Amino acid sequence: MASVISERAAALDGPRRVVVGVSGSIAAYKAPTIIRLLRQAGHEVKVVATQAALRFIGAPALAAVSGSAVSTGVFDDPAAVEHVATAEWADLVLVAPASADLLARVAAGRADDLLTATILTATAPVVLAPAMHTQMWLNPATVENVATLRRRGLKVIDPDSGRLTGSDSGLGRLPEPERVVAQALAVLTQEEAAGAAQVLSGRHVVVSAGGTREPIDPVRYLGNRSSGRQGVAMAAEAARLGARVTLVAANIEAEVLRDLPAQAEVVQVSTALELREAVRQAGQDADVIVMAAAVADYRPAQVRSSKIKKHTLDGQPAGSLTGERGMRIELVENPDVLAELVADPPRQDGRTLVVGFAAETGDGEGDVLAHGAAKARRKGADLLAVNAVGEHTGFGDVPNRVVVLDRVGEPVAEASGSKAEVARALVGLVAERLDARDGQTR
Ligand code: CTP
Repeated sequence: MASVISERAAALDGPRRVVVGVSGSIAAYKAPTIIRLLRQAGHEVKVVATQAALRFIGAPALAAVSGSAVSTGVFDDPAAVEHVATAEWADLVLVAPASADLLARVAAGRADDLLTATILTATAPVVLAPAMHTQMWLNPATVENVATLRRRGLKVIDPDSGRLTGSDSGLGRLPEPERVVAQALAVLTQEEAAGAAQVLSGRHVVVSAGGTREPIDPVRYLGNRSSGRQGVAMAAEAARLGARVTLVAANIEAEVLRDLPAQAEVVQVSTALELREAVRQAGQDADVIVMAAAVADYRPAQVRSSKIKKHTLDGQPAGSLTGERGMRIELVENPDVLAELVADPPRQDGRTLVVGFAAETGDGEGDVLAHGAAKARRKGADLLAVNAVGEHTGFGDVPNRVVVLDRVGEPVAEASGSKAEVARALVGLVAERLDARDGQTR
């Protein structure tokens, strides 16, 4: 009976409208946190509470955190036909907590208050997060109601095990608000993906993302500040459009990887040489390779097997107080993975579309685009997405702007906005290019 709803799902590409239903359970005290988390993520929230819920938590508290009045009764404003208006407004209905009584009423198709009437009317995905005592959760009536709801396509989150209302503990606890929100948004992403045109179905898309780390000794490395977010957004978007996706992840935080759909394969690497190997391996049958990773151009010539001590490098005793003495680490060049993919494609027939990213700042020798165009010609990738980076753009989770150049350095498209929006535009362009190429060779 257990069902696993993935918490690993691509981030939504913009705000959504979420109806949060609150029913009569002691866990209603967690509803404000759930509402706050949704709003912090940029989503709009409307709260519909049952009368029983309002005995556990006050309408003013719910109104304050949600930023709008709390609806409770079908007859509050009959002229507005509120259950229909609310259901049509919603991109997602999340009931948290969902009491045993609420589950029973929804399973029975009842519409005896605003919340159940809204659920019955809604065409948006409905996610129910139950909270009740263990005996109520395990009661055959509830078990059957949950099975009925799941069969009908409503998503019922499995409750946690833990401390319940009294001194007892067991299964039936509302999961922590972060998990409820993550699962609910994952359901929404998956439903939207299912509705998206699967223009990349049957294609294998390989994405490298993150930043390589080049070891100096067992505790130190040369690294960079790439978070991997743009590459993960590209991988998520390709999966949303039906592609089989392999993400070659160089030192990406688990929290960033959470934005990937569950079906994407993740290959963890750390150094440039490992990344090159993994990309070439996965690339043997790739239709597209996206090199979004920040690959170190150089690595230390020698990796010391033990920790380098302060005095061993310059032959001087340790402990200079002024801290101005120099030291040298010799570096050797890493392969240019992208240029190599173009010059020596891992796929035998060479039918892989290769996409690069260029992080540019501009300098005395040229602006961002001039550097980008020179790089496009030098590397020869089919597409090069040029991104201006600085202290406050490009890195981390900030909106960015990219200009896409072709292999001769001519601009062919532009995209801006969140990383998800940029990914949407770039992957859309990739899909068009693949179709155009197949059309020509058919
Ligand atoms: N790249 C690569 N292998 C390297 C360096 C970069 O595959 N050793 C790829 C990156 O993944 C990216 C593109 O090349 O897709 C451009 O990366 P960037 O660091 O901007 O280019 P560099 O060749 O390092 O140029 P420079 O540092 O001189 O600007």
